[in-house]
Amino acid sequence: MRIAYKTNSGICYYGLIEKVLNSKKFDKYKNKINLIFTSPPFPLNRKKKYGNLNGIEYVNWFSNFALLFKDYLTGDGSIVIEVGNSWESGKPVMSTLAIESLLNFLNVGDYSLCQQFVWYNPAKLPGPAQWVTIDRNRVKDSFTHIWWMSKTPYPKADNRNILVEYSNSMKKLLKEKKYNYGIRPSEHKIGEKSFLENNSGAISSNVITVANTHSNNIYNKYCKENNLKMHPARMPEKIPEFFIKFLTDKHDLILDPFAGSNTTGSVAEHLNRKWISVEPNIDYINGSIGRFKKLKYRNLS
Ligand SMILES: C[S@@+](CC[C@H](N)C(=O)[O-])C[C@H]1O[C@@H](n2cnc3c(N)ncnc32)[C@H](O)[C@@H]1O
Repeated sequence: MRIAYKTNSGICYYGLIEKVLNSKKFDKYKNKINLIFTSPPFPLNRKKKYGNLNGIEYVNWFSNFALLFKDYLTGDGSIVIEVGNSWESGKPVMSTLAIESLLNFLNVGDYSLCQQFVWYNPAKLPGPAQWVTIDRNRVKDSFTHIWWMSKTPYPKADNRNILVEYSNSMKKLLKEKKYNYGIRPSEHKIGEKSFLENNSGAISSNVITVANTHSNNIYNKYCKENNLKMHPARMPEKIPEFFIKFLTDKHDLILDPFAGSNTTGSVAEHLNRKWISVEPNIDYINGSIGRFKKLKYRNLS
């Protein structure tokens, strides 16, 4: 474990998260981390470049973090974990590994499952290719699971920080101040004032739609210009942004234990939060430096 780079708000560690969390030097962060936001290596039935474990081995490895993370989290802190779907090898059958891993994690840590989210990626390429594009007997897999967990049922959270733009019909309704209140066929009672108050935006839903198109952002440009390897599974900034705004305040501390290209750290920095990220692959760390405008090019080895 060693510090790869620092900014005014954050530190990126080069190493394995198991080692970092068990190191004495890291003790100072116990009960200090407000949000652990991460996308761990996915459970796969075949090995990926960055060394994903398989099957039950993965479930056990992953649930070990439930207790390790707990020590570092503040009492009202949150853990948000994104895990994609996985498929059994050689047949068009879904694996339950992602769900088992999340459930095991929840049980081992005795966490409250505050809410489940779905990240729907409309730009996802058709896959698994064999079943979706060749045999045509499955449809495209285009969402991942995001589980929000915490030590208590009442972690810090404010959905007013992540309001979304009102629909055109809602904008019209707010303007005309006319609403058909009363009892709906569903037996919901709509009060006279229910929909006439302008709250500056609509309440977000737990389906987050973001296309992961890897557009020409600062990271891509930096990696191309410096001939650096880009991370193959980076997340769009909108995903950590949603949870950081929802679950933390300015100057709070956020940890991404499986940081990859450090999307989380750069979004946290931009939103005036403090951050710590951990990544054992030096190529991904070198690329991630490009997300921070103030850092100069360097090639760590
Ligand atoms: C799914 S990627 C994260 C991508 C990241 N969210 C981004 O936007 O770039 C998971 C990362 O976990 C890293 N990883 C694998 N095992 C690890 C470990 N034991 N400790 C820390 N990181 C690890 C991998 O190298 C990989 O970069």
